[in-house]
Amino acid sequence: MAFSKDFLWGGATAANQIEGAVTRDGRGLTTMDTLTVGNLHRPRQITYQKVDGTLEKAERLACVPEGAVGAIDPDDFYPSHVGIHFYDHYKEDIRLFAEMGFKAYRMSISWTRIFPTGTETEPLEAGLAFYDKVFDECLKYGIEPVVTLSHFDVPLYLADHYDGWGNRKVVDYFTHYCQTVFDRYKDKVKYWMTFNEINVLRSWLQLGIHNNEDPQTMAQAIYHVLLASARAVSIGHACIPDAKIGNMVMYAPSYAMTAKPEDVLENLQYKRKVEFYLDVQVKGAYPAYKLKEYERLRVNLVTQEGDEEILKAGVVDFIGFSYYMSTMTTTDTSMPKTPGNNMMSYKNPHLEVSEWGWTLDPMGLRIALCEMYDRYQVPLFIVENGLGAIDKLESDGSIRDDYRIDYMAAHIVAMKEAVELDGVELMGYTSWGCIDLIAWSTGEMKKRYGFIYVEADDAGKGSYDRRKKKSFGWYKKVISSNGEDCSNN
Ligand code: BG6
Repeated sequence: MAFSKDFLWGGATAANQIEGAVTRDGRGLTTMDTLTVGNLHRPRQITYQKVDGTLEKAERLACVPEGAVGAIDPDDFYPSHVGIHFYDHYKEDIRLFAEMGFKAYRMSISWTRIFPTGTETEPLEAGLAFYDKVFDECLKYGIEPVVTLSHFDVPLYLADHYDGWGNRKVVDYFTHYCQTVFDRYKDKVKYWMTFNEINVLRSWLQLGIHNNEDPQTMAQAIYHVLLASARAVSIGHACIPDAKIGNMVMYAPSYAMTAKPEDVLENLQYKRKVEFYLDVQVKGAYPAYKLKEYERLRVNLVTQEGDEEILKAGVVDFIGFSYYMSTMTTTDTSMPKTPGNNMMSYKNPHLEVSEWGWTLDPMGLRIALCEMYDRYQVPLFIVENGLGAIDKLESDGSIRDDYRIDYMAAHIVAMKEAVELDGVELMGYTSWGCIDLIAWSTGEMKKRYGFIYVEADDAGKGSYDRRKKKSFGWYKKVISSNGEDCSNN
């Protein structure tokens, strides 16, 4: 057998894409709650109120102007406000995960359910109690919770009043939140991750900053996030000695379009965009190429005594990563581009793309696993992978998502090869959106990833009933055979 007997098969979600109930039980708003619905051709927008009181909207990854605060337009629809009603449906959903044989369920805690503004000293008991119930439900079925501490959302208050991660005080607020949840859940949760896709954080939405064009501000905000991650790892280890605490990056292996040295150098530099985060979080220090880049940009990181030790001590136990696609680099800027996960990239002429333009490349997963394991030699955990597609609900109530089965089977075969042929140490696989949820990039419901269909549309209308897709039975078989049987029959 390729995979160990305790391989963590399961699925993954994030609070802001499933929970809904954004103001229930005292929860505070986050930057994500100001994000409207969009689609492939119409970007989602953030909503804010300017100093003069007028309400405005701007493209999802833009920054709100200085002095403006995040806001809600009563006449617009905000997908995170309903999610898939997981706040009320969690028992049913976890029961379905258990029926598929999940060994692990990756989810995130919403920081503002515990600390509504992010600045309180005392946590909200209702928020803590909600996650107690969710974890208990998982453990009842022998499902290990795998918890992301921060999945894209920033408490709105911290964005409005502190410039989010631009302010070092937020490191303390975040670590207080981490200490609180580690203490509370230490007997229930052994697997943790700090920041989701840390390498793509760049906007007001994800960092709470008001200016992402100034290299100094950006570098400082990222420094604070890396510091907070390292402190969280150390606090977690002290509180839960047998915890496994990882980071989380978006990994899209990049291929140089040609053997031209210029393309190869371009590709090497592109790879450093993700390797920088891995270098800091796995090796515990800023790499030379990043320090040189900062010198050129005249960035002067403001640090404090003891920071170097914090980064060193807070190295992760494993690398968690999302894999959806590969990308391609070239110095020929006339080449056609295609959308991808958090990026526009050059289109690889050898590969097909999904309905949303994302490059389909199962072999790229083996390449990703090898690249990271060869370079870092720590266990890897695939915590997101899946196909966002339009599913058809047939008149008999069935959903025949063979395309999803084909996509996932090919990726599982690739990861099996990485384990068997390349010796990669792989802890688990939690497919993305194991139950249909709100798409992060477009806010749509119709971009579905799940084994479980949720009856709702992009405007938040529907019964929100759950139905098993064809892939539900298929994944159950994959798990029960420990990945040996991926056939579609
Ligand atoms: C990752 C995120 O970028 O990709 C998830 O961690 C997201 O939150 C996933 O949902 C898929 O992207 P999308 O835009 O199809 O939802």
